[in-house]
Amino acid sequence: MKKLSILFVCLGNICRSPMAEGLLNCLIKEAEYDNYIEVDSAATHNYHNNAPPDKRACFVASSCGIDITKQRSRQITDHDFAKFDLIFSMDESIHKNLLRRSRRNDYKIKQLADYIKESDYSFIPDPYFGDLNDFENTFSLIKQAVKALSTDLINK
Ligand code: 4NP
Repeated sequence: MKKLSILFVCLGNICRSPMAEGLLNCLIKEAEYDNYIEVDSAATHNYHNNAPPDKRACFVASSCGIDITKQRSRQITDHDFAKFDLIFSMDESIHKNLLRRSRRNDYKIKQLADYIKESDYSFIPDPYFGDLNDFENTFSLIKQAVKALSTDLINK
């Protein structure tokens, strides 16, 4: 059976999308759904091609027991739009960029922040130019959204 495939996309693929990928992988493994769902992440830009995630992202993910250090940044390709079943953008600018490139696959593109309930956040803020507090805030929003997403996926 073909796995349901999920792609998280941010600007550099070194902060937000690696944290989301690591967390969703962890949740679907815990639920023993890793035979049914596959997860990846990518960047809209190639600034950090092949780089590991930012050390601060690795640190906040490790506080939840999640190791994201082996991930490597890659830029999204045209093939990804055909391959993945669901593609989650982290903010409005990423969302617009993906919609522009997606052609007939625009129906696959969603905003991850739509899974955050009762919150003022309509996007997942970019922590790259901030400090560790910004990474913790971003990771806490990613946790809320990705937990709600995994519950949705597992109950389907
Ligand atoms: P990300 O964060 O999109 O969450 O991976 C960023 C990483 C790098 C840059 C901006 C945001 N940058 O300008 O290099």
